[in-house]
Amino acid sequence: MTEQTERKKRVFSAVQPSGGVTLGNYLGALKNWVKMQDEFDCIYALADLHTITVRQEPAKMRSNILDAYALFLACGVNPEKSPFFIQSHVNTHAQLAWILNCYTQFGELSRMTQFKDKSQKHADNVNAGLFTYPALMAADILLYQADMVPVGADQRQHLEITRDVAQRFNGIYGNVFKIPEAYVPKTAARVMSLQDPQNKMSKSDTNINGCVYILDPPETIIKKFKRAVTDSDACVRYADGKDGINNLMGIYSSITGKSFADIESEFAGKGYGDFKQAVGEAVAEELRPIQQRYKEIRDDKQYLEACYKRSAEFAQSISQRTLDKAMKKIGFILK
Ligand code: TYM
Repeated sequence: MTEQTERKKRVFSAVQPSGGVTLGNYLGALKNWVKMQDEFDCIYALADLHTITVRQEPAKMRSNILDAYALFLACGVNPEKSPFFIQSHVNTHAQLAWILNCYTQFGELSRMTQFKDKSQKHADNVNAGLFTYPALMAADILLYQADMVPVGADQRQHLEITRDVAQRFNGIYGNVFKIPEAYVPKTAARVMSLQDPQNKMSKSDTNINGCVYILDPPETIIKKFKRAVTDSDACVRYADGKDGINNLMGIYSSITGKSFADIESEFAGKGYGDFKQAVGEAVAEELRPIQQRYKEIRDDKQYLEACYKRSAEFAQSISQRTLDKAMKKIGFILK
């Protein structure tokens, strides 16, 4: 056997298509999705089932899904190489999620910080789906026997519970699931709000200047960076307590590939104004071709449909094997 015939490592990841893809999504996850396509056997999804843990407006939900699908293609996800499907099109996800719910403990779900945050934000709708969400995410990953899961730092806890549930299941039934590893970028693993740099950049930010969207026009992006909260030190350097500058340095480093030391010398003797302008311009330039491509494909419904249908067929056949194996081990009679 030559090295070439060895199985490539499998990568799986997903993003919720709930209104606007952020710079955090892009730098924390999406950039790695695109990069990993050449080297690994990648499968990606839009996690639409996850979005209904928070109430969605039906027409808006439909357009959000297609917007996100087209935008991910525009960013470089290539469904010819890496199947990219819509989670609700592949019924194994909901099925395995139910099963894994029965192997996940109430106590471990109660410790999930995302559950605690979201149940505070949506106190009028703390539904069971919000609570058991990690079991669905575990199902997403385990169905594809993924080795690696490219995500931002905020998803580490969900990866841990996925591993715990898989190990528990394997402990009872033998080797059914591969135990996956989180693949988190070195810089920009946690992009912070530009207005409140102690909190993660998120579409639920109440201050619109805190969150940059991939489809924000270049002048809006530059304006948001110009308004970014910094400190009174007036020196571009990475240090404790300089959350705003540290965040901007992380973003700039992730986009340009420059190290923190390079960035510090590039801006030595210059003010924050120059630095913020440079970061804004770098982000706007990176996103410009993506925005252009998005405009070209968003309304090509036939093309989008062909991509997501073909991807779903592939995902269904791969994931069905894992689901059948798990069900057989448990004692179900397969049809
Ligand atoms: P979601 O949709 O909130 O975020 C999608 C991806 O973007 C990353 N991310 C960030 N990275 C850096 N800085 C930020 N401010 C930032 N905000 C978001 C997230 O870490 C994530 O990688 N539960 C998941 C979706 C999901 C999933 C899965 C992921 C469903 N099934 C299976 C991996 C595998 C979520 O809500 O991500």
